[in-house]
Amino acid sequence: MQEYYNKGIKDIIDEFPQVEKILDEYGIGCGPCNVGTCLLKDIVEIHNLSSQDEAVLFSKIAKVIYPDRDIKIPEVKRKEKPKEITYSPPINKLVQEHKIIKRWAALIPEVIANLNLDSEAGREIIVKGIDFIKNYADKYHHAKEEDILFKYFDENLDIIKAMHTDHDTARAYVKNVLIGIEERDENKVSENLSAYRELLIEHIKKEDEILYPWMDRTFSVTVVGELFAKFAEVDKQFSDNPKKQEEFICELETKFGSKEVKK
Ligand SMILES: [Fe+2]
Ligand SMILES: [Fe+2]
Repeated sequence: MQEYYNKGIKDIIDEFPQVEKILDEYGIGCGPCNVGTCLLKDIVEIHNLSSQDEAVLFSKIAKVIYPDRDIKIPEVKRKEKPKEITYSPPINKLVQEHKIIKRWAALIPEVIANLNLDSEAGREIIVKGIDFIKNYADKYHHAKEEDILFKYFDENLDIIKAMHTDHDTARAYVKNVLIGIEERDENKVSENLSAYRELLIEHIKKEDEILYPWMDRTFSVTVVGELFAKFAEVDKQFSDNPKKQEEFICELETKFGSKEVKK
């Protein structure tokens, strides 16, 4: 079994497809992950499984890999998993920014249902939405992640690569929405806006529930302080622009009523 602890999870799933279902039972969605060469041993660490769950998960995987052998997996004592996720102050700042981005994502279906690229006012809503994505979600929030937070980790780690890939895919959808506006192609706009919404909702869930808690577990008090100061510096640079961007979300919520992301 030892050799499999140090093997990439995608390779294990390719060899033993049943492993994907077992991981799924523990909320570990490695199958759909677009990178997925995390090592089996790291997955438990990143997903913060309890000692008991870890032992049972490995036993189930061992049974698939070695169906004829009776492999005993010892329980490794781990810190009790907290019932609720709590974040350090700088990470909590990012979680709060996610809430604003999710308010926009929740409004997208309504925006698409009322899409009208033939009118100036119709086009303006989409342009403002893209402006929010570019300036708030991307320049302000993703830049904090890419330029500051992720730099504290090995950029070759799969989980970090997967986050970069999501950001890049989101940027590609945004580009296509802009082309759609130019071409007055409502299908292109709605398809890419929907795809952006889907992607971002999943991406934020991964960050809030897996990536950020895992990062927080690795940070020393000094690093938390550094991050706090660096994020505060970004906030200063952006001044009241993020607040102005939020006003657009409030305007839309007044128009369509406030919505919630259902998942
Ligand atoms: Fe992100
Ligand atoms: Fe994020």
